[in-house]
Amino acid sequence: MCGISGIISNTSVSRRLLDSIQNLEYRGYDSCGMAVINSHGPIVRKNVGHVAEVAEKELFTSLDGHVGIAHTRWATHGGVTPVNAHPHTSCDGTIAVVHNGIISNYGELKARLMKKGHIFRSETDTEVIPHLIEEYRKGGLPLERAFVAALNELDGSFAVAMVAAEEPWGIFCGKHESPLIIGLGQNENYLGSDFNAFIEYTKNAVVMEDGEYAIITHESYAVKRMSNGEPVNKQVMPIEWDAEMSKKGGFPHYMLKEIHEQPRTVIKALAIDENAIINLARRMIEARRANVTGVGTTYYVAQLGQYYLASEAGVSAPAVSADEFLEGSAFGPEDFILAVSQSGETYDTLRVLREAKRRKTRTAAMVNVIGSTMARLVDDVVMQGSGPEICVISTKAALAQMIILIRIAIEAGVLTGRITPADRKQKIKQLEALPDIISGFLNEYSGFVHTLAQRTAHHHNWLYLGRGRYYPIALEAALKVKEVAYLHAEGMPAGFLKHGTIALIDEKLKSLVFVPTEKEEELYNMTMSSIEEIKARGGSVTAFHSSRTLQRSKLLDDQLMLPAAPPLVAPLVSLIAAQLYSYFAAVTLGKNVDKPRALAKSVTVA
Ligand code: AGP
Repeated sequence: MCGISGIISNTSVSRRLLDSIQNLEYRGYDSCGMAVINSHGPIVRKNVGHVAEVAEKELFTSLDGHVGIAHTRWATHGGVTPVNAHPHTSCDGTIAVVHNGIISNYGELKARLMKKGHIFRSETDTEVIPHLIEEYRKGGLPLERAFVAALNELDGSFAVAMVAAEEPWGIFCGKHESPLIIGLGQNENYLGSDFNAFIEYTKNAVVMEDGEYAIITHESYAVKRMSNGEPVNKQVMPIEWDAEMSKKGGFPHYMLKEIHEQPRTVIKALAIDENAIINLARRMIEARRANVTGVGTTYYVAQLGQYYLASEAGVSAPAVSADEFLEGSAFGPEDFILAVSQSGETYDTLRVLREAKRRKTRTAAMVNVIGSTMARLVDDVVMQGSGPEICVISTKAALAQMIILIRIAIEAGVLTGRITPADRKQKIKQLEALPDIISGFLNEYSGFVHTLAQRTAHHHNWLYLGRGRYYPIALEAALKVKEVAYLHAEGMPAGFLKHGTIALIDEKLKSLVFVPTEKEEELYNMTMSSIEEIKARGGSVTAFHSSRTLQRSKLLDDQLMLPAAPPLVAPLVSLIAAQLYSYFAAVTLGKNVDKPRALAKSVTVA
């Protein structure tokens, strides 16, 4: 989604503004721009394409000035064109604005402003903002009040930053339902949609809340309420991540780096305070109805959680995709919703949590980004501590969330009496063994996965099948290969296949089957039946499995033999294999691994 950056300094800012939006590229974008204030007012440069290319073409770094704002745009209203890129300006060009979010009443505002003679140049919703501020200025309001009056007229979601010729020493900004964070430096201050905008320069941040605006100079910042202009006392929050963590560290892509960081993220997820985990387990049990929610990958994480909660603890906590939650679920004050989100800013998930708040439903969230909206909104938060995940494709964050949900399921099992203390110990030990299993797998099996991808990535249509806990894994694996390699893969329960989709089976449609361990006898046998059904119809089967028997079977057209792992964690090993497969498939097909087309890291719009 769009990324906002701002720097107010007493030295030139354009070079660092460029670095800053490059650090926000991972959020997803299609165009970018910059406005730097000099003696003539804001000078705006913008265009479509990669930041580096636009910067070169538009000579970003030749802009000279001590105050500037920059933006990466992910188009929502209006096509991907140079004129739709941000910043947008007032008619007289003295006010320049960047925006993240969607202004739902922009149509009526635009009509009103046009009637008053404002000339619009773009098709965006954003452009109403500079014109609205200009209109209030014309009406006699001083700049600060004009800025706030304009923001108060906006419906929808926004994080807005403005520079203006008449007050060239600072940046004005404000937010509602889209993230905005102020960074505090030495003789200079910063603004960003997230910490990555300024993590290279400072580790001190002030997180803005909905309904707040701020005026930032190089040596001060003042946060006030949009409703009445009263000052708000803000806490300075230390950022625990460092700039190094956000670099590729020798890997060709962030995705591969982040896949390789997974042993560490598991260790971090296992180090989360036991009491926080038990607290969530208790909430699950005590609620009249408990649901786990997320969207995209985090919905599949939630689904995996549902399976573990049911099987380990006998707790029913259906996973519901956040984008459909409000329309398809009933909930009230006695219920409990656990949200899962890497960014903590996802619109669909926040929509559920905000409504839950309104209905007095107890909420909790598991998030990765410190200070994110979700972390601040819910009753209980678990910070997963996975470190920055830069690749748009979620890998390490999702695995950490799965570990945390398995821990919740185990503790819920103890609370419901299904798991004895001795069993609990055993299960925790199995989780603790996972980092070594993953490291071993990544070191020894990467070559096999790469060759498998080279052999099979040219097949464009896949069924990804799994039973039980391997079903959410199949769904998530299918999403991975769709997102990064643009291969069509339909995730499905293996048992569901025979109820219709089996009609598609022929020699061209490939099936990737996630086979449970032989120890899970019933599940293993049922999955084998599905493989037989596919083979009987002339289908082709690739299997990810750890079975010596299956290794020798003539049923498989292709296979990846996985290292042995206890049933509790074996599905996670299959997932890591699928992540790696998707990565190598994308590399084989020459795709843009870290920034796949049309995707954004944090999806903050409806
Ligand atoms: C993950 O690979 C995806 N790009 C996407 O599905 C993501 O998981 C989803 O948008 C939810 O994001 P969140 O975890 O930040 O809430």
